[in-house]
Amino acid sequence: MSLHVVEHPLANKILTDLRDETTKASRFRELGKQLTYFLLIEATRGLKTKPRNVRTPLAEFDGTDLGQSVVVVPILRAGLTMLQPAVEMLQDVSVGYIGMERDETTAVARTYYCKLPNLNDKFVIVLDPMLATGRSAESALEMVMEHEPDKVAMVSMIASPEGIRRLENSFTNIPIYTAAVDERINEHRFIVPGFGDFGDRAYGTD
Ligand code: URA
Repeated sequence: MSLHVVEHPLANKILTDLRDETTKASRFRELGKQLTYFLLIEATRGLKTKPRNVRTPLAEFDGTDLGQSVVVVPILRAGLTMLQPAVEMLQDVSVGYIGMERDETTAVARTYYCKLPNLNDKFVIVLDPMLATGRSAESALEMVMEHEPDKVAMVSMIASPEGIRRLENSFTNIPIYTAAVDERINEHRFIVPGFGDFGDRAYGTD
C-alpha cells in the first residue's frame, strides 16, 4: 500500500475553496470535478501503454496508445461527483457502481447495490471523495479484488489517518491517491477539518 498526496498550488487552492463553507453546491461540484482531474492524472501514471504510429501533417510519429482497459467504480452517492471527469478523461472506460451507506451509529458500511463490469486484468480505480473511517472503501475494494483485476487504485479528495491505516492493514498492493491527509475524524466520523458532508454539499441536501 502506498500513499500519494498530490501537491500542486492549483489543487491546494481548489481544496481550500471546497473546504470553504460558503461555497455553493454548483461551484462545489465544479471544484470537485477539477480536483478529480489532478488525482486521476497521478492515479493513472502506471497504466500500460502500447505503440501506435500516426502520421502528422509533416512526418511519421511513433506514438503510444493505452494498452489496458480502465474501469472506474464510484462509491455511491458522493463518488458519483467524480465520475464525469473520469469518463471525460479516460474515454474508453467501463463503469461499475457500488452503493454503500453507513449506519450512523456504528459507522458500519452496508452494501445496497453492486454492479461491476468484467474486472479481470483491468486497471480499476475506486472513487470516493472522502476516505474517513475507510470502512466503505475497504468493503468496496474487497468486492473489486474478488474479480482479479490487474491493478487497483483508491482515489479520494481527502483522507483521514485512520482511513489510510485501515486500507494499509487490509491491502498490501492498493495505492491511495489523495490531495490532503487531514488531522482526524471526529465522534460523528466526519473528517476534520474536511469538507463537511460531501454528498449534502454537492447535491444541496442538508
Ligand atoms: N463523508 C463525508 O461526506 N464527510 C466526511 O467528513 C466523512 C465522510
